[in-house]
Amino acid sequence: MAPPNTNKRRVVAVVPAAGSGTRMGDPLPKQYLDINGLPMIVHTLTAMAAVSRIEQIVVVIAANDGYWEQTAARHLAPFASRVVAHRVGGVTRAESVLNGLRCVESLFAHHDWVLVHDAARPCIRTELIEQFLDELEDESVGGLLALPVADTLKRSNSDQRVEATVAREHLWRAQTPQMFRFDLLTRALGAMPDATDEAQAIEALGHQPRLVIGESANLKVTYATDMKLAQILLMESERVK
Ligand code: CTP
Ligand code: MG
Repeated sequence: MAPPNTNKRRVVAVVPAAGSGTRMGDPLPKQYLDINGLPMIVHTLTAMAAVSRIEQIVVVIAANDGYWEQTAARHLAPFASRVVAHRVGGVTRAESVLNGLRCVESLFAHHDWVLVHDAARPCIRTELIEQFLDELEDESVGGLLALPVADTLKRSNSDQRVEATVAREHLWRAQTPQMFRFDLLTRALGAMPDATDEAQAIEALGHQPRLVIGESANLKVTYATDMKLAQILLMESERVK
């Protein structure tokens, strides 16, 4: 029998879930809104927990989160050993991710992988995460799921009139998961607490994250109208199982 591959790096996931969903306009933080009978975050974490290569899922919740305990007890008990919440949400998404990393830094090595996925992307498919992990296996820095921009892009002036058409060549929409090495990501986010995704912080250190083709169904639920779309997409995926 071949010896175990000791070069294989471990994977820890971080799920930022400490936002308040202001654009959604609901008093309940959007990660707890019901989609087809389950809180949004339960869809997200269930898809992630089915990826056996992910050793631990660090869920970053707000210090005053009043919904996690009940949600986890009701819906996440089968994954309790791998899904661990920390009440260390920061002011920004990047701060939340960084604080989550600091909670587990003693457990992982510098070169282990950190896979970051938004709680607010509940339609992520387990198979897409698996493919993403496969694609990045031999990368040194890491990368992200993203989609080439398909629409024609316009730049506006302050009167909401078109000033110019912007070439869409080489433009991508960044999604999550994004995955980088533990040490590099910690340094990058520490240096750029207002980065809106991990890749931006990594780029600022001079690296070039790899772009892996995502899918439009992996939408970030942001506005109330996105909820309907998420319902339909998740209903479809239930049907094909
Ligand atoms: N997030 C976080 N900590 C923050 C802000 C956001 O953990 N300080 C998380 C959100 O919970 C979400 C993900 O980051 O899962 C993406 O953020 P976004 O879609 O912007 O969510 P919110 O910040 O909650 O929404 P809004 O910007 O409309 O307030
Ligand atoms: Mg936000």
